[in-house]
Amino acid sequence: MVAAKIAPSMLSSDFANLASEADRMLQCGADWLHMDIMDGHFVPNLTIGAPVIQSLRKHTKAYLDCHLMVTNPLDYVEPLGKAGASGFTFHVEVSKDNWQEVVRQIKSKGMRPGVALKPETPIEDVYTLLESENPVEMILVMTVEPGFGGQKFMLEMMDKVRALRKKYPSLDIEVDGGLGPATIDVAASAGANCIVAGSSVFGASDPAQVISLMRKRVEE
Ligand code: DX5
Ligand code: ZN
Repeated sequence: MVAAKIAPSMLSSDFANLASEADRMLQCGADWLHMDIMDGHFVPNLTIGAPVIQSLRKHTKAYLDCHLMVTNPLDYVEPLGKAGASGFTFHVEVSKDNWQEVVRQIKSKGMRPGVALKPETPIEDVYTLLESENPVEMILVMTVEPGFGGQKFMLEMMDKVRALRKKYPSLDIEVDGGLGPATIDVAASAGANCIVAGSSVFGASDPAQVISLMRKRVEE
């Protein structure tokens, strides 16, 4: 079994109180903080970038799991490395030609490389990134169209998770979009171990309970 990582998506937090929202999530049992970086081009929404990560880093030692929904991930590697990002997950759809360079640079800045795929992207597209000499260390299977929180979980994406888990028993497999108490069972039994959850955690009256329930499902 691969260790569970429960990662509240800070996209659903109160951005005006990011440091205290981050603290609240860590006190509620979060393992990672999921940071959604969007450029208004790869996705039709614009969020935060390196300056905000840098500010947050001054307030917490937590693992900052950055999800880059951007057209040019290479441009973000150096600034995010300096800002104190922990994980750097870029989208395979925009990196077909230069993913080796992206991975190399992420590692050279001391971050952990991951690759994400949109719902319409076949799982076969990430196998070369896992089997190279310089592999990515996490796969993020999007379970909604990237861009916004609060969307409906796409059950069909579990086929990708199952295929990955069968091939790579100890890989970190992250799922993102529509996860919460109602969908965790199917995601955990498919083999996901890193669980991103925005609206279900921030919208809960007891976020700690939601986080611990999700961890239990992954670990049982
Ligand atoms: C969507 C983001 C997600 C989002 C998840 O593009 O990548 O991380 O915040 O939010 P929920 O859990 O509400 O679907
Ligand atoms: Zn995300």
